Amino acid sequence: MHPEDRPVGGVATLPTAAAEVPTPSESIALYGAQPRSQVRVHHLRTMKRKGTKITAVTCYDATFARLVDQSGVDVVLVGDSLGNVVQGQGSTLPVTLDHIVYHTAAVARGLSRAQLVADLPFMTYYSAEVALPNAARLLAEGGAHAVKLEGGAEVAPIVARLVQSGIPVMGHIGLTPQSLHAMGGHRIQGRGTEARARLLADAAALQEAGCYALVLEGIPTRLATEISASLAIPTIGIGAGDGCDGQILVLYDMLGLNPDFQPKFLKRFAQLGAEVRRALAAYGEEVRAGTFPAPEHGYDDPSEREPTLKVAR
Ligand code: KIV
Repeated sequence: MHPEDRPVGGVATLPTAAAEVPTPSESIALYGAQPRSQVRVHHLRTMKRKGTKITAVTCYDATFARLVDQSGVDVVLVGDSLGNVVQGQGSTLPVTLDHIVYHTAAVARGLSRAQLVADLPFMTYYSAEVALPNAARLLAEGGAHAVKLEGGAEVAPIVARLVQSGIPVMGHIGLTPQSLHAMGGHRIQGRGTEARARLLADAAALQEAGCYALVLEGIPTRLATEISASLAIPTIGIGAGDGCDGQILVLYDMLGLNPDFQPKFLKRFAQLGAEVRRALAAYGEEVRAGTFPAPEHGYDDPSEREPTLKVAR
């Protein structure tokens, strides 16, 4: 066993076998068959140790999940960002546990290789007693492999209880959207000596409590790099620069489906918003012009055909 594959902290129950991380092509070849190789929680630590960057995106439905899985993304998060991008809410606060369970189950049906993580929404983990049955629903009903929750040292006892109960937990520190009002808006966190020290301590406390990975959101690049270097568990950054062990983006944002949302950290890898508008306009034009549907898009009834005469020889 490699020393860095040992569980960190007193309560962590991370698997100790540093098995090879399944390659995307293995699962792409297997698509449609029973999953043989899935990205497990301990694989992420192996990836960190080997210097292989972890790729992650959010996802909310089975159709996109299939595409994400086929593309070889390692981790899929059913994030409470679904409040913004699916429900059209102004924040993640109205998202309920039922919403996340519903979308997690849909995404699970589309995945074969990727690790599935589900967010615990606002006020569903304010105590260990509340968090345990809620997290259990995400695994048992949603089919998630792990849960994610926001917060620093203050949530460490809750993380420890979940981990002790066999529920892998991904932490999330820095800009934590569920604390939108407490933070005074979506602001970069960890600027200044005190805030920097607090985030470093939060990261250490979460690792000690048994988190198997940490999302670092909205943190200066140098601090995120320092936090990543200080931990044995991997960090997955969003708006936290290039020093993290992996990256996560909101799927709809990185595909350009929300052209009006352009924060500094976001790179659009496609312009699907423009493509969707073009396709819908073309559809409208063809329906109005009567060129769609064409004859080949219709069905006939073979019983309406002329009966063929059988000629006896
Ligand atoms: O809810 C979400 O999508 C997230 C990611 C941005 C990390 O928490």
